[in-house]
Amino acid sequence: MNALHALVTGGSSGIGFELARQLATAGYSLSLVARGETRLKQAAAELEHCFVRPNQRIYVHAADVAVAAEAEAAVADASRELGVPDLVITSAGIAVPGYFEDIPLEVFERSMQVNYFGSLYVARAALPAMRARRQGRIVFISSGAGFMGLFGYATYAPGKFALRGLAEGLRAELKADGVGVSIAYPPDTDTPMLAEENKTKPLETKLMTAVVKTWTAPAVASCVMRGIRRGKFAITPGAAIWAMNRMPGIVLPVLHWYCGRLAASVRDKRPRREPRLTQAAPLTQR
Ligand SMILES: NC(=O)c1ccc[n+]([C@@H]2O[C@H](COP(=O)([O-])OP(=O)(O)OC[C@H]3O[C@@H](n4cnc5c(N)ncnc54)[C@H](OP(=O)(O)O)[C@@H]3O)[C@@H](O)[C@H]2O)c1
Repeated sequence: MNALHALVTGGSSGIGFELARQLATAGYSLSLVARGETRLKQAAAELEHCFVRPNQRIYVHAADVAVAAEAEAAVADASRELGVPDLVITSAGIAVPGYFEDIPLEVFERSMQVNYFGSLYVARAALPAMRARRQGRIVFISSGAGFMGLFGYATYAPGKFALRGLAEGLRAELKADGVGVSIAYPPDTDTPMLAEENKTKPLETKLMTAVVKTWTAPAVASCVMRGIRRGKFAITPGAAIWAMNRMPGIVLPVLHWYCGRLAASVRDKRPRREPRLTQAAPLTQR
C-alpha cells in the first residue's frame, strides 16, 4: 500500500522544509517543489533519513510556482510519481521589505505572483483529483502580515491578505466535497528568508518586529501540523497571531497605534525623506 502523499512547495528551506521533515516522520511520502534543484536534492537526501516506513518515497521537482505552466507540471508529475496528493502545502514565498518608494514596480508584481498566484496555481492544479477522491487538504502558508499591513511590507502583505480571501472562498466552495482547506499565519520565524529580510528592513520595521519573539521553524511547523491533524481552518501560532485572528477589531487598532508611535520616534530624529520614486533599487528575486 502507498504511503499518504504530501506535496510541499518551498519544501527545500525554512518552514516548508520543517513541515516536510515532520511529515516524513509521520509516515508521508513527499513531493518537494522549489526552483533550486541542488537545494531540493540536498533536502531530499536529509529527509529520507526521517522516513519511518518502507513504503515512503520522495520526489523533487524544480519549478517556479509563479509560472502557471510550471506549477501545473509540478503537480501533474508529482501525482504521477506518488499518486494524488493527500496534502498540498503552499509554502513557497518571497519577502522584500523596504520603503515603498524605493522598491521597483517589478518587485511588487513578482511578490504577488509568487506569494499569491504561486499558491493559487498549485491548489488549482491539485484540486480536481483531490475532489474526485473526496479527500485531502490544501494548506496555504500566509503570515502575520496577512492580518496587518506593517510598515515596510507593502510588497509582501497584499499577497498574504489575498491568500486569506482565496482560502475562505475555497473553504466555502469545498465544504461538501471532502477536501479541507487551512491557512496558517506564522509570526517572524528564523529562516533564510528572515535573514535576507533583515538586510533591507527599514529601521521602523526593525523596531516593530523586535517587539514580538522570533519563532523557530520547527515550532511553527509543529503548530501547523497540529492544526492539520485537528482539521482547523485558521492556524495561528502564538497568542498575538491568535488574537489578531479572533479579535481583530480590538487588537489591530492597538497594534497600528503602537507601530505608529514607533515610526514617529524614528521620523522625529531623521531629516524628512524626499519623494524618490525615480530612484529604483535593484530587483531582488529570491
Ligand atoms: N520566515 C518568516 O518569518 C515567515 C513569517 C511568516 C510567513 N512566512 C511564510 O512562510 C513561507 C516559507 O518562508 P520561509 O521563511 O521558510 O522561507 P525560505 O526559507 O526562504 O524558503 C522559501 C522556499 O520557497 C522556495 N521558493 C521561493 N520562490 C519560489 C518560486 N517562485 N517557486 C518555487 N519555489 C520558490 C524556495 O526555494 P528556491 O529559492 O530554490 O525556489 C524555498 O524552498 C513563505 O510563504 C513565507 O512568506 C515566513
